[in-house]
Amino acid sequence: MIRRPSICVGEQSFSQAALLLDSEAFQIAKKNLLEVLLQASAKLQGIRSGDSVGSEAKAAYHEAIAGLQADKGRELYFPFLSSGLGRGPFVELIDGSVKYDMITGIGVNFFGHSHPELMSEMIDALPADVMQGNLQPGHEQQELLRAILTRVGPGARLEHGWLLCSGTMANEFALKIIRQKKFPATKVLAFRDCFAGRSTAMQEITDNPKYREGQPVYGEALYLPFHDEVQGLEESVGATVAAMREAATRYPGKIAALMIELVQGEGGFKAAPREYYVRVFDEARRLGLAIWVDEVQTFGRTGELFAYQKFGLHEYVDVVTVGKLLQACAVLYARDFNPRAGLIAGTFSGSSVALRTGRRIVEMLTEDGYLGEDGRIERLARRFRENLRRSAEGRCRGLIGDIRAVGGMMAFQPLGGTMEEVKAVLMRLFDLGVIAFYCGHGPYLVRLLPPCGALSEAQLDDVCGLIETALVDVGEKGK
Ligand SMILES: Cc1ncc(COP(=O)(O)O)c(C=O)c1O
Repeated sequence: MIRRPSICVGEQSFSQAALLLDSEAFQIAKKNLLEVLLQASAKLQGIRSGDSVGSEAKAAYHEAIAGLQADKGRELYFPFLSSGLGRGPFVELIDGSVKYDMITGIGVNFFGHSHPELMSEMIDALPADVMQGNLQPGHEQQELLRAILTRVGPGARLEHGWLLCSGTMANEFALKIIRQKKFPATKVLAFRDCFAGRSTAMQEITDNPKYREGQPVYGEALYLPFHDEVQGLEESVGATVAAMREAATRYPGKIAALMIELVQGEGGFKAAPREYYVRVFDEARRLGLAIWVDEVQTFGRTGELFAYQKFGLHEYVDVVTVGKLLQACAVLYARDFNPRAGLIAGTFSGSSVALRTGRRIVEMLTEDGYLGEDGRIERLARRFRENLRRSAEGRCRGLIGDIRAVGGMMAFQPLGGTMEEVKAVLMRLFDLGVIAFYCGHGPYLVRLLPPCGALSEAQLDDVCGLIETALVDVGEKGK
């Protein structure tokens, strides 16, 4: 489908760029280009093993991988170099082999590969400059911000936003905005096992000492226990609230914010019941803390556009950060958090292609049946749980521990959940034609962030069948 370009003011085209996109010549050229792109994509019918690609392709592939590894100065996690082309959940590697992409660059390609709607947006971005920024905003910036801000939901107080190029920088801006508002308080209450990025400030908030080896720690992050399923609601709330009060007593007037991933990403796809968040957020309010929700990984994935919508927490959120599947990143904030001029800015807000496709992604997510209890995301989550449970009671008895699926955030614990076992399963899966990754802090889990916008239930069944095979193979080997 060719959509009317959004470069117009109302229904009218005033600029040469708008007239160009509207012109018959452009529309015909675009149609032809899309046709050849989709013809190439359609050739990628399913998994194609690396063993079947011929020795020349294999050798060239290994050379390219070795070159990238040499330049980066370290090994890649997988021998994976994509050609950029794909078809739905399938991605082509540069040797011509094809795999199921079940991690999508840690949740970036929610609509899979070579999606016709997104390709169409990419072509429409051609008249624009490559990059946009603070002093060079194009209409794509305005449209993307508007698309997000008009969907924050009833009762949410998020009125403004700023676009930038990484989730880490979105979090940096969130922290600066909060610190300015809460001056002179600077400290952040974060949760054990959280991940916030790898800048100097975010590596400190991130609860993983391995990610800040050799780096100074300024004592700005204080950690709270997260909800614990085994302990249950009352004990979990009690433990978290007690830790908040202790921190507030120890550092009076020094704590600026409570920062939370409502579904912990790196931490292992853990979520809490609504009641837990409500009681913890009420306490944060009593202590005068800003509530900052990091939705860099959860945005668009949990079955609602924002995870705070899934848990009905709209009115609590002062600042939220988003990224990944949006193709762009943003910090959104309530009116009273709007920072004074000079605090946040930057050369780049994103590429025109990214900003444009981001807006289309938000539209597709909210208008095409993905959200809600019976939306496509929840249906895939149920299917994943059913498949994994069946395997755990059948061929994979004793090989599967915890099974977690919060919308399109799916994970399971293979075998004993050691890092070695998880890595062995991931490598076997890669050989079988499935790319996945890990999460958790011990026990570790296999993590899937599938392209829910391009994955059928039959394809998910197929992937689960391959997971079964990988588990059995690794289990056999370990005997
Ligand atoms: C919850 C969360 N916050 C922040 C980040 C950092 O985002 P980026 O890698 O885009 O800087 C990530 C990335 O995985 C994340 O999962």
